[in-house]
Amino acid sequence: MINIQATKDRAAKLRDLISDYRYNYHVLNKSIMSEAAADSLKHELTQIEEKYPELITPDSPTQRVAGEPLPGFKQIRHSSRMLSLNDVFNREELAAWIARITKLMPGNEPRTSNLEPRRLKFFMDIKMDGLACALVYKNGVLKQAITRGDGFVGEDVTANIRTIESVPLRLRNVIGLTYHKFLQGRTEIRGEIVMYKEEFKKLNEKQIKSGLPAFANPRNLAAGTIRQLDPKLVAERPLHFHAYDLIRENRNEVPTNEYAYKTLRELGIIANTIASAVNSAEEIMNYYKKWEEKRHNLPFNTDGLVVKINDRRLHDQLGVVGKAPRGSVAFKYPAEQATTQVKDIFISIGRTGAATPVAMLKPVVVSGSTVQMATLHNEGEIKRNDIRVGDSVIVQKAGDVIPEIVEPLTKLRDGSEKPFVMPTHCPDCDTKLAKSKKEEAIWRCPNNACPSRSWKQIQHFASKAALDIEGLGEKNVMALINAGLIKDQADIFRVKKEDLLGLERFAEISASKLVSAIGAKKRPTLPRFIYGLGIRQVGEQTAIDLANNFHSLVRIAQATIEELSQVAGVGEVVAESIVEWFARPSHKRLLDKFKKLGVNPKEVHRTTGPLTGKNFVITGSLESMSREEAAERIRALGGTFQSSVGKETDYLVVGAKVGEAKLVQARTLGTKQIDEKKLLELLDK
Ligand code: IVH
Repeated sequence: MINIQATKDRAAKLRDLISDYRYNYHVLNKSIMSEAAADSLKHELTQIEEKYPELITPDSPTQRVAGEPLPGFKQIRHSSRMLSLNDVFNREELAAWIARITKLMPGNEPRTSNLEPRRLKFFMDIKMDGLACALVYKNGVLKQAITRGDGFVGEDVTANIRTIESVPLRLRNVIGLTYHKFLQGRTEIRGEIVMYKEEFKKLNEKQIKSGLPAFANPRNLAAGTIRQLDPKLVAERPLHFHAYDLIRENRNEVPTNEYAYKTLRELGIIANTIASAVNSAEEIMNYYKKWEEKRHNLPFNTDGLVVKINDRRLHDQLGVVGKAPRGSVAFKYPAEQATTQVKDIFISIGRTGAATPVAMLKPVVVSGSTVQMATLHNEGEIKRNDIRVGDSVIVQKAGDVIPEIVEPLTKLRDGSEKPFVMPTHCPDCDTKLAKSKKEEAIWRCPNNACPSRSWKQIQHFASKAALDIEGLGEKNVMALINAGLIKDQADIFRVKKEDLLGLERFAEISASKLVSAIGAKKRPTLPRFIYGLGIRQVGEQTAIDLANNFHSLVRIAQATIEELSQVAGVGEVVAESIVEWFARPSHKRLLDKFKKLGVNPKEVHRTTGPLTGKNFVITGSLESMSREEAAERIRALGGTFQSSVGKETDYLVVGAKVGEAKLVQARTLGTKQIDEKKLLELLDK
């Protein structure tokens, strides 16, 4: 039986927290969590209320009518209602929308299914994250600026809008008949007032420097600014107006959205040049994909696109349902944050023995994929953030990164949550976990023979960036360990086809394939082999640097800390870790075993080429290749690929969806920034 009292309590807690969020956001200009996380909570509340309507309270945030006009400004009725948009989130929902409107289109009476219905044309733009505003021009002169308000009535913010440089006080007088009529009579221009991300950042830095609380986000600050009663204050804040609609009393004067945008530009108003007309669902999808990453480079924030029927008469004919026109939708990108619950916290032992706590989550969709686990980094991190088993938490995932917990929502606790206690022993081999003085945050399983460690080490050795043995992924490695066929990396080369045939996972063909894939890797390149050994601190580039400087495994094994530190990119910590690794008897035995089995890395000599001596860092993702490919191509031409920007970095390649850290570092050090096109030019030399 479901405990209705518990559900009721949960709903009450959700209401309190959501209302806290709203109060902070709308009244105090502060953000206590992201909009996506708050949406996720609202979603949970709506689901509860849908299931148990008797739990709905009149003050529930789900019962709110949005955007009543503010007192303090003159209230003005809009010439036509300012509508909102319904959302679609994926190809299927987009297709359903197109099917719906196609069926409703005048002239598209029911047909047999194999007939193509009348084709629609669409117009697409980025959905800007700001606040909507209507500008009214009479005979070309700005008369009034009105906020959206409740859609019917908005606030007269003319004095404030007049301070925005990109709003013309008089429309540009174009010689030529086509646009001239817009300078006569009433022309209404609707659009979004936005603050650019860069300018927001600068303002916020200033704010913090003066000891004042930081602003939540650009939209909030733009909205707060426009509602200031003092226009002088508005003039100090950089705001921009980007139009998306052009309205005339005679609506036929603006036949399509494409025409509207062109006209707006002629009249001296910003209308996004990336907006464009498209002809099919396929083209809408292409546009969506194209901007999914690139949108992060736009000056303003956006969480999606707007798709409208291009033909405005048809758009009007389709009418309105609720608060949204049938002929337009917002095509949203997946939220990068959501809320869920921590079901359990367990320990995962890595190949170096590091004991990392991992949260098992109630599955939730974040950034378009289902997330069930999140790394918690280490014990200290859990303590600092006070994450407990049973907690409701905000999870975050951006791009390809491992999902992480942003924070627990402590206000949603009901007392049943349990603080995490770090186990004292390895969950796998029961060895007592240990901490070294050097790394106080990390507990490790010190047992070199710990099955979890071996499993991860062997996986790493066989992985793509190391020996790249096809067919030897985590499951097969586990099967071979469990069958007692392998205990370490070298044992792989002993495995015979007959051994594999006895295992459930293998049949004739798969067994032959794996044995020959292993056999083909007996002469790996030196850098891949070194990287595959899993020496702490030795990543792919360090392995290459070591190979280039010492030429053979024997020489690296014999090198002293001093000699190793001479290599550019190898500091003292790395050198120590290398010497320590080769000094261990168990590692010496491992290398002997490789030798006996005929596994011998090829010796290398330094590659030189047009990029010799040049150091590259990439931030964000590239369009034409993966980062790994880019690194490989840079190295093939003699260049060095680094993971972070330093004094010796020559180029920072800036891709899409970039993080701030590397850009800031490059700016501080004056590192040259180049785009993907320039990188391709360098690689083509
Ligand atoms: S077209 C029916 N185009 O999104 C109103 N709107 O959720 C559609 N918005 O209130 C207008 N960027 O303030 C349109 N490129 C864009 C937009 C855009 C942002 C806002 C607009 C509207 C809201 C609808």
